[in-house]
Amino acid sequence: MKPVELIKLPIKKEMELFEKKFREAMLSKVPLLNRITYYIIRRKGKQMRPMFVFLIAKMVSDGNFDERTYRGASIIELIHTATLVHDDVVDDSNRRRGFFSINALWKNKIAVLVGDYLLSKGLLLSIDNDDFDLLKLISIAVREMSEGELLQIEKARKLDITEEVYFDIIRQKTATLIAACCGIGAASVGAKDDVVQQMRKFGEYIGIAFQIKDDLFDYTDEKIGKPTGIDIKEQKMTLPLIYTLNNCTKKEKAWIINSVKKHNKDKKRVKEVIAFVKENGGIEYTTTKMNAYKNKAITILEDYPESPFKTSLLQMIDYVVERKV
Ligand code: IPE
Ligand code: IPE
Ligand code: MG
Ligand code: MG
Repeated sequence: MKPVELIKLPIKKEMELFEKKFREAMLSKVPLLNRITYYIIRRKGKQMRPMFVFLIAKMVSDGNFDERTYRGASIIELIHTATLVHDDVVDDSNRRRGFFSINALWKNKIAVLVGDYLLSKGLLLSIDNDDFDLLKLISIAVREMSEGELLQIEKARKLDITEEVYFDIIRQKTATLIAACCGIGAASVGAKDDVVQQMRKFGEYIGIAFQIKDDLFDYTDEKIGKPTGIDIKEQKMTLPLIYTLNNCTKKEKAWIINSVKKHNKDKKRVKEVIAFVKENGGIEYTTTKMNAYKNKAITILEDYPESPFKTSLLQMIDYVVERKV
């Protein structure tokens, strides 16, 4: 059994029902939109975010939940899907989930509009059901994700990113949505505010570890269903490179910066930079940082009694840093 299937076991029924509801939540009267959303559903991702919603809802309650939790999961996955569609336009990336991205197949114009449609469907799903507490959690995430992406672009242009700013960026562009989904899992079953906040923190730590893992993938040749080695091309400096820049000679630093600034589309040169990062401990340092966040998340779960849901969450934390896609 694949790790994800194993983690899903205690919420298998809920995930099946979720898939049906998620599909329905995307429906439109416009045939072109339905063709595209049909395509998106066939190429579904790992669905980690709805899994977090359900596992946390179960862990912090008596194990029973209603439509509100299903809506919470659908809202999160709609917003996540919208941001991926937009992200591939922003990053000029032609692959996603092992196949063509929406912009690669239908061009940027359509991808931008599809992303907006999915975002609005997510927000309306909570508004139409008066889930204003969930809407607040998700809206914070939407705002922070846009800010994180823009901060990343600003730093890519100036090439002056520090480790501190790197963590700000990944917290905003990625961890905030995972924080929202863990908070929503708790809020959807009526958990007290301190529990909701604690679960948000849990999600934030996992989200940071998750994005560090994603950034490590970019330094490998592994087949992960989307391009690798494109961060430098996009002048995106992530932790392995930031660490290396701070731990090499002036001359080497100038060579790296010059490579990223002027030779970022030169595949051979980019490969040389990647090799330099690997030779200088950039991967080890980044892995250590990732594991520190993983451990912070585990510590939070210590406050909760043993249950199959907690066990799955612990496996999920391992999966985030060990995963192959
Ligand atoms: C991809 O998220 C975007 C990042 C935050 C790195 P996932 O890796 O969860 O995407 P899917 O849904 O499984 O494709
Ligand atoms: C993902 O950003 C986070 C989002 C805001 C969608 P990346 O650009 O680093 O992620 P991938 O590698 O394309 O999934
Ligand atoms: Mg991208
Ligand atoms: Mg991006």
